Amino acid sequence: MSAAGIYVHIPFCRSKCRYCDFVSACGSEEKQRRYVKALVREIYTGREIYHGEADTLYIGGGTPSCLYKGAVHEIVKALDDAFSPCLKEFTTECNPDSFDREKAAELKDAGVTRISLGVQSLDDGVLKALGRRHDSEQAKEAVRLAVACGFDVSADLMLGLPGQTMQDVASFCDFAAGEGVAHVSAYMLKVEEGTPLARDVENGLELPSDDESAEIYDFAYSTLSKLGYERYETSNFCRRGKRCLHNMKYWTMGDYLAFGVAAHGKIGNRRYFNCGDVDEYVEAVESGAHVYETEEMLSEDDVIEESVMLGLRLSDGVDVSTLGRRFSFRFEDRYAKALKEAEKYIVFKDGTLKIKDEYALVANAIIGMFV
Ligand SMILES: C[S@@+](CC[C@H](N)C(=O)[O-])C[C@H]1O[C@@H](n2cnc3c(N)ncnc32)[C@H](O)[C@@H]1O
Ligand code: SF4
Repeated sequence: MSAAGIYVHIPFCRSKCRYCDFVSACGSEEKQRRYVKALVREIYTGREIYHGEADTLYIGGGTPSCLYKGAVHEIVKALDDAFSPCLKEFTTECNPDSFDREKAAELKDAGVTRISLGVQSLDDGVLKALGRRHDSEQAKEAVRLAVACGFDVSADLMLGLPGQTMQDVASFCDFAAGEGVAHVSAYMLKVEEGTPLARDVENGLELPSDDESAEIYDFAYSTLSKLGYERYETSNFCRRGKRCLHNMKYWTMGDYLAFGVAAHGKIGNRRYFNCGDVDEYVEAVESGAHVYETEEMLSEDDVIEESVMLGLRLSDGVDVSTLGRRFSFRFEDRYAKALKEAEKYIVFKDGTLKIKDEYALVANAIIGMFV
């Protein structure tokens, strides 16, 4: 069995961005301390469900870098005690406005090897409209600091933003390449129901059309490629050898443990979802109750379908011959109709199925033909 990844969710941010519906909110130090205590307790109980190895750790959020000093050490100590992970990669998500020299030193000391920084854009007007707390200069400083401290740096870029120009995307890519950023995640803006951005859109805020968004994605893709970043997943680009090992586990149906509010994990065929409310989560842990709200056992069909769905987003594609051997079926037979329908968009060769590069942006529509 290959080693699992570990995901830890931190549901705190200094303020809420206008587009975001992740489980995160402002939290006093007292609230953070109570949460981390609960998290540590949940981690220790994790020993009961998992006895195997773990080799990647991802602390995401929310904003892990806005946690009180020492919190990450407390989490790492609990994980060490519970699982003795032998980490090949330890990522922490950070926001530019809460990542400084002191935070960098603290994270380094805790064993963090990779920092994922939410830059989003280098256009101050766009950043302001998104409700980000940082400006472009602060984002640049944070990236330079993370690189100078020897972290592998990933920078998030958002695409299809109101008012975003190609120049903004070009500046981001040039800056990232020039500063030695190893990895870029480029997310198309999703207007999430109930967010202030969704209300702005209802009130007439104009977003780029589908065609304009496609053009922006293509531009980001070709610019990053020219600068030496390979696209290895629909939204993820990296320098050679710098793929995110933790996220690769999600995309290849590997195992991952998950701790914290709204976190979900998968071990073997069991998938579990923790409750999505911070207070309920903390109270459940404190009272010794289970924090997972739902769990499901993935059937053989679920595993096949998800492997195809996730694998088609990877530039390597899906190894369907291995999948077929594992579950005793012939891919060509089971997916004959979809293969015909998707013929124009895919490459099916040597037991591997891929979406052609030029159709990466419409991957979801093509994947829809297989599910
Ligand atoms: C949940 S955030 C956590 C990281 C960190 N708090 C930050 O904001 O940089 C991870 C990334 O998801 C992306 N994201 C969040 N909401 C999004 C949305 N509605 N549409 C597209 N990308 C989004 C942003 O690029 C963000 O950097
Ligand atoms: S995008 Fe990041 S900083 Fe902004 S609210 Fe969401 S999790 Fe917090």
